[in-house]
Amino acid sequence: MTLNIPYLETHVVDHCNLNCDLCSHFSNIAPKRFVGLDWFGKQLARLLEVADSIEPLALLGGEPTLHPELVGFVHLSRTYLPRAHIEIATNGTLLASKGADFWRALAENRIWLRITYYPGTRVDARAIARLAGDYGVGCGIRDLGKDKSWYCLLNARGDSDPRLAFANCPSRVCHTLYEGRFYLCPRPAYIHFWNRTQSKPIEVARSDYVDIFGENARSVLEQYLGRIDRSEALEFCRWCPERRQPVEWTSAATRRGRAGLVRKGLAFWVRGRQGQ
Ligand SMILES: C[S@@+](CC[C@H](N)C(=O)[O-])C[C@H]1O[C@@H](n2cnc3c(N)ncnc32)[C@H](O)[C@@H]1O
Ligand code: SF4
Ligand code: SF4
Repeated sequence: MTLNIPYLETHVVDHCNLNCDLCSHFSNIAPKRFVGLDWFGKQLARLLEVADSIEPLALLGGEPTLHPELVGFVHLSRTYLPRAHIEIATNGTLLASKGADFWRALAENRIWLRITYYPGTRVDARAIARLAGDYGVGCGIRDLGKDKSWYCLLNARGDSDPRLAFANCPSRVCHTLYEGRFYLCPRPAYIHFWNRTQSKPIEVARSDYVDIFGENARSVLEQYLGRIDRSEALEFCRWCPERRQPVEWTSAATRRGRAGLVRKGLAFWVRGRQGQ
């Protein structure tokens, strides 16, 4: 029987230059870390010993364009996965500063750009799309200013019905490779960043991930991936909301901007009162 990983995403960096509140990878509170190219290659090679195919692959973070060797990740990914759809998911903020080498590497290796546009970042999405087009790089842009799909991540009480959370969860297919472990979804993979800010950490159960370098990794992975067909929740699911809870997208910068506006408004009001 063939074992296909139907989608895989992996960090090339943990941190980010934008810091959205409620980032689903906790990259807004993650310390700076650049993944080594050798380590990435070793994990990908091992996963391809354990499974027969991986497709699609998404390189992300954090903000992947912060990695000075991103082009190396692109070449290596294409070497290991000659026919797969490979994409880079980015907030787009650094794309305009990338040189011809970057764009040529994406074009040569048939890498798709998945850009999310965040309000207030001043990314000129049309100019980026034109630039990508000039180099023959395919790209898609999701505009958070318009589609407003931003969601709560956690139920910090940990009392959700895991089956309900799992059944309603769009992230259960966002399979994640992180530090030698394969996870069904990003939440348990990156919860250690959130734990750094908490007095009571959320533990990740051993059954919630697969050690890809461990014994019998193939059969363990096969069983583990079967959870989706069997509707079998992770232990971790009790920490996630039972239903999608939309919230407004904000970031540290927008909060600072709002606080500034309130301060200005208050000062204006006080001056007005003093002038009365
Ligand atoms: C974690 S980001 C990493 C890549 C890149 N920094 C970016 O923002 O595109 C990957 C995707 O997850 C989405 N995302 C992160 N947190 C989310 C949330 N709380 N609700 C909805 N989508 C979220 C982002 O908008 C982005 O499309
Ligand atoms: S830009 Fe992406 S990685 Fe950065 S904080 Fe926002 S969602 Fe997370
Ligand atoms: S732990 Fe469960 S509910 Fe939470 S993101 Fe993963 S699959 Fe979804």
